[in-house]
Amino acid sequence: MAKLNIVKHGDPVLRKVCRPVDEITPRILTLLDDMAETMRDADGCGLAAPQVGILRRIVVIETEESGLIELINPKIIARAGEQREYEGCLSIPGKSGITRRPMHVTVRALNREGKQVEYSGSGLLARAFCHELDHLDGKLYIDIAEDIQG
Ligand code: NI
Repeated sequence: MAKLNIVKHGDPVLRKVCRPVDEITPRILTLLDDMAETMRDADGCGLAAPQVGILRRIVVIETEESGLIELINPKIIARAGEQREYEGCLSIPGKSGITRRPMHVTVRALNREGKQVEYSGSGLLARAFCHELDHLDGKLYIDIAEDIQG
């Protein structure tokens, strides 16, 4: 495993739309491992591939409650309720802002075996799903945040 460099806000790579993964190669598996290591090292609870300069639809998320979740080609298939909470991003260090997100989110994706999986999350996990999936379409939380501090 290797720790990757996290791209910071201002780099145009964060504004691109990522391409789907069409084949889960050993390279993709290594990327998943490296992204998890990079996220943990940075003390984050989510990381999307464009944040390490790779324009592919890949996300890792880890909360205390969920454990490590690896998502390939993820899509939100259900959302319900609403929450307004502070949110931050490893690509925008030292800042946070309040966003409006659904309280409950269900995501469908492929896992590292290429099997279709679904995850449902509430609160922090729902926010993480929304935040990380937005990265895959070049969107950042500061685009929608109400009160950015830091
Ligand atoms: Ni982020």
